[in-house]
Amino acid sequence: MANEEEKEAAGRAAAKLVRDSDIVGLGTGSTAYFAVVALGERVKAGLKIMGIPTSVQTADLARSVGIPLTTLDEHPEIDITIDGADEFDPKLNLIKGGGGALTREKVIATASKKMVVVADSGKVVPTLGKFPLPVEIIAFARTVIEKKIASLGATPKLRLKPDGSPFITDNGNQILDCSFGKIEDPAALARELSDTPGIVEHGLFIGIAKMALIGRGPSVEQLNG
Ligand code: 5RP
Repeated sequence: MANEEEKEAAGRAAAKLVRDSDIVGLGTGSTAYFAVVALGERVKAGLKIMGIPTSVQTADLARSVGIPLTTLDEHPEIDITIDGADEFDPKLNLIKGGGGALTREKVIATASKKMVVVADSGKVVPTLGKFPLPVEIIAFARTVIEKKIASLGATPKLRLKPDGSPFITDNGNQILDCSFGKIEDPAALARELSDTPGIVEHGLFIGIAKMALIGRGPSVEQLNG
């Protein structure tokens, strides 16, 4: 599939940016997967790094490919983080959280000297918002937050598992997927959501990513933020 080829090309290109002795933030999702696998190959070939995973799923993957792991407590400053995105605009503002890992992803991205986004070509958009914005909330506040989000112009939908029960994040919280349509001022919306009690984190990453590697067929395009 072209899409898989693009994800793999982007993930592998990003893994090449990692240097000996780096502390590396390991993203979550099907594109970050290829970066983690490629890093595992480099570790087997002698690269000395330690990874900090953005999810339980990525921690399992990293262990399975032989990447030594550490924690933010041991290494609060990360050299480079490689992670996917659900959408991004030309300024490298992102929507993340399709995989439900947005809170840890944002903590790790903002603790990093450099965040590199890896994506297939379908993720680039002129204006964010087609992808429903994931918002992690505490269950206690759900109805109040749904009303607030509706007042901001979106339709919030509780994320469910295939069995119909609420999806629960690695932090024990729920997710509202919020269809805003076009988000004309993502920074203003990000501030509004961050100021709402009960919202743990939202998937707008404003001004955090410094570089995107975008798979286009078998080749990779670089975009700088
Ligand atoms: C997980 C994320 C992912 O990075 C995002 O969903 C993109 O995933 P994929 O590479 O599978 O399209 O934010 O919370």
